[in-house]
Amino acid sequence: MEKIITKRNELKRVPLHIQGLDENIEGGIPESYVVLICGTAGTMKSSVCFNSVYNECVNKGKIALYISLEQSYVSLLNHIINMGYDLSKINILLINDLSNINSQLSQLKESKKGTIIFGDLGCIRKEIKDTKINTTANAGWVNVIKNLVKKIKSDLGLDMFVLDSLSALYVLGKFENPRIELFFIFEFLRDLNITSYLVSEMPLDGSKYSEYGVEDYLSDGIIYIRLSQFRRAVVREISIVKMRSTSVNTDVFSLEFKNGKFSALYGGQNPLL
Ligand SMILES: Nc1ncnc2c1ncn2[C@@H]1O[C@H](COP(=O)(O)OP(=O)(O)OP(=O)(O)O)[C@@H](O)[C@H]1O
Ligand SMILES: [Mg+2]
Repeated sequence: MEKIITKRNELKRVPLHIQGLDENIEGGIPESYVVLICGTAGTMKSSVCFNSVYNECVNKGKIALYISLEQSYVSLLNHIINMGYDLSKINILLINDLSNINSQLSQLKESKKGTIIFGDLGCIRKEIKDTKINTTANAGWVNVIKNLVKKIKSDLGLDMFVLDSLSALYVLGKFENPRIELFFIFEFLRDLNITSYLVSEMPLDGSKYSEYGVEDYLSDGIIYIRLSQFRRAVVREISIVKMRSTSVNTDVFSLEFKNGKFSALYGGQNPLL
């Protein structure tokens, strides 16, 4: 449950671990906020989410769930390892079959290390088939994901959650009344006190941050990543569109990934100028 603070700067924050950007949002995202990570294809949305979660798990022993609906967790892990992240610093739990979840979680109970639990389309689809939930209705997908979140929260504690992506969830199951269904999904995450990143695939023309528009209002924050052409070079750029309860610098920064670290550069530091 969200609580009312008694003075300024009392909100606990979760850094993005992007040097140069966290400093521009008072150190990070307020805990338990639900934040949209928006961008067109290939803008490193998944990497930015993973980077924040990974560093929180390594530094603070947090527990995170990463649901990858766009790519298998094998493909995602290969990408992450290729970027140079050292996965030996954390526990990695891959969910193949939700029927084994109790024993998989119990093995982690005593661990002092942070943990990232990965689930993908395959394991959720299997659960839907096994329990004969109607796959054409959105309720099946959302309920399986919600139950998984609740299960991990009650057995291990869950600090962070990534849904990659919200757009894929829309393709998998039809939302009959998106306004209401999305309202309850956002409330569900906030009530459990989980800091969440919801990835949103944007159209190439950048005309909207989310599919239904209502996500923009329901979310506590919006982070926008895009590709920008400068002569023949293309750079990734990042900006904070909104972040509730935060003094934000909404300028556009160039986003770089070098030597295993993300950084946001501004003005004269732009590598292309
Ligand atoms: N070691 C690396 N250093 C810098 N960039 C890399 C590295 N490895 C991969 N990339 C870049 O990362 C990009 C993909 O990152 P990521 O999968 O996070 O993007 P995404 O926005 O989630 O993509 P998608 O739209 O496919 O989901 C690729 O375009 C690739 O060029
Ligand atoms: Mg991705």
